[in-house]
Amino acid sequence: MAYRNLEIADRGAVRTITVARPDKLNALNRDTLVELTLAFTQAAQEESVRAIVLTGSGDKAFVAGADIAEMSDYTPIQAQSFSRTGQKLMSLIERLGKPVVARIQGFALGGGMELAMACHLRVASEKARFGQPEINLGLIPGFGGTQRLLRLAGRGAALELCLTGATIPAQRAYDLGIVTRLVAPEALDEAVTALADQLAAAAPLAAAGILDAVLQGGESSLDQGLEFETQGFALIFSSEDMREGTRAFLDKRKPTFTGR
Ligand code: COA
Repeated sequence: MAYRNLEIADRGAVRTITVARPDKLNALNRDTLVELTLAFTQAAQEESVRAIVLTGSGDKAFVAGADIAEMSDYTPIQAQSFSRTGQKLMSLIERLGKPVVARIQGFALGGGMELAMACHLRVASEKARFGQPEINLGLIPGFGGTQRLLRLAGRGAALELCLTGATIPAQRAYDLGIVTRLVAPEALDEAVTALADQLAAAAPLAAAGILDAVLQGGESSLDQGLEFETQGFALIFSSEDMREGTRAFLDKRKPTFTGR
């Protein structure tokens, strides 16, 4: 399918989805949210896609936020729908069942930071900048920022970033646990490619089980989460990949995972 605001590229089992509105620093308007929802739904359904890289076009921005021009005229009802559409997209990415890596080369602000936080891993260039600047516009985050930042980096960091609207360098985001890997700008593509290839080669059902246990189990009590893990652990024994992985270890060879 042809997208107006996205570019899609496949390399082996890795799909790269690029938000491509470079003249607007890849800001998320409603059409882009809808296209991203379609693109991620499709990536979830295609068995050949094992890992996804999400990025923005150009060097300057991953995504510089929700589209301020479009939002400025919204009625409360339109704002509610925009927030719900954005939140559903973020939850879709988070619960995709396949690993999603954010490749962050520049600004990840507002909705851009929220989009990055919905991904499972965040690889950032040292030149990247992060922030929840909504308060500077008289707004609050609307695509899950208050909740995911709280869970990723704790109450202090969530309140500091959301209340001050400050833009922070990638190193500080890394120190806060928001960025999972920090690399020199010239090493970004190599680092993202290596990580995505590793994720795409992993046993897909095990990856899905880990994502489920951490993301769903993590929202419940420890006892519930542990039970969730046990159920996932037991279920994976029905997979051919589990037999292949353990047999390959015992045979002293590399496993070949099929996703069965
Ligand atoms: N929504 C809509 N348009 C945006 C945008 C956004 N979130 N962020 C950037 N743009 C547009 C600018 O309006 C400008 O468009 P124009 O050339 O038609 O005027 C273009 O992208 C380039 O941005 P510009 O501001 O000129 O670049 P800069 O290098 O001077 O500043 C930023 C970069 C990221 C600091 C600045 O663009 C910015 O503060 N953006 C908004 C960030 C924000 O508040 N995000 C949260 C939204 S809820």
